[in-house]
Amino acid sequence: MGALTPGDRIGLLTSGGDAPGMNAGLLAAAKVGAALGLEVLAVEEGYQGLIEGKIRPLDRRALEDAARRGGTLIGSARSKRFMTAEGQAEAKEQLRAHRLRGLIVFGGNGSLTGATMLKGAACFDGAPLRVVGVPSSIDNDIGCTSMAIGVDTAMNTIVEACDRIADTAYSHHRTFIVEVMGRDCGYLAMTTGIAASADAVLFREGKKGDEALVSQVVRAIEASYARADGRRYVLVIQSEGVQLESSRLKALVDAQLAERLKHIETRVTVLGHVVRGGAPSAFDRLLASRFANVAVRALLHGEDQVMTGWMLPGQSKAATSWDPYIALWPLDEVLRETARLYSGESELVRWRVNALTEAEHILTR
Ligand code: F6P
Repeated sequence: MGALTPGDRIGLLTSGGDAPGMNAGLLAAAKVGAALGLEVLAVEEGYQGLIEGKIRPLDRRALEDAARRGGTLIGSARSKRFMTAEGQAEAKEQLRAHRLRGLIVFGGNGSLTGATMLKGAACFDGAPLRVVGVPSSIDNDIGCTSMAIGVDTAMNTIVEACDRIADTAYSHHRTFIVEVMGRDCGYLAMTTGIAASADAVLFREGKKGDEALVSQVVRAIEASYARADGRRYVLVIQSEGVQLESSRLKALVDAQLAERLKHIETRVTVLGHVVRGGAPSAFDRLLASRFANVAVRALLHGEDQVMTGWMLPGQSKAATSWDPYIALWPLDEVLRETARLYSGESELVRWRVNALTEAEHILTR
């Protein structure tokens, strides 16, 4: 009851921090939608654009080029107005005015929370509006999916940057503290710490105070220089969620080393938004396309207030018949699980912290 039918209009919206692979997802949604007889429109510049009625035909030709690039061709924004009741009323009015029956929201935690604000909205003819979320954020901080769009590319970018830094680090026997994005989630720091052979990985979830963080880095430096085979350079990856700023960390580490290893120089590199750009990896293009395929079919089927999630086949009761790797999770459940990831209650986060703590002992041997 209330499912979409061929000829109906749906909108695609990208919101929050852009993620490499979003364009590939938009293209796949445009293609699958067209093949199933839907009219697929672009809602430009996220929820802010929705409020302002920036709803236009998708430029499929341009998307075909953009699918190879990072960013989002239809623009993104972090809309404060949409978080207000007035903003939401304006957005719903625009959805009715443009006769949209369904909306696919590509975004992270804030954007998916925004999608729940449209719960119960009606279309121009009174039928229920359908909303499906697609997890897209380099931070990998979204519950109910093992990967979000953009994470794989971001990891590759960080590892490549660290490999470059290692070239100059070993030449000068230096210690580098590399700060990576991830907001409050240490996933990018943790995974790239392993992949780039870092000597220490710092993340918020470890709940370490400043002193413990400084001594972790100092221990890593001492262990590295004490090695018989003498690596003589040190790579530290710090997640941006760590409260102690990387420049302050450097100063505190330098102060401790001044007595013991005074010849050691430390440098800080903040990768910042570099991590969010660049051509999406093959995995991100594929993941985005698979999410988009299921999202469009889910809308057509009449699903509402759900998000696509990536999983291994046979692992979840939420699996879809369209793709054994893609499940559909209620958005409310996604947001609850996301909050558990943030608070550290999630078993997954506890496992990550334990695994990295164990890795630290191995790394500093
Ligand atoms: O959520 C993605 C992200 O890139 C985070 O890693 C980072 O903290 C934040 O967005 C940066 O946001 P902005 O682009 O608004 O500075």
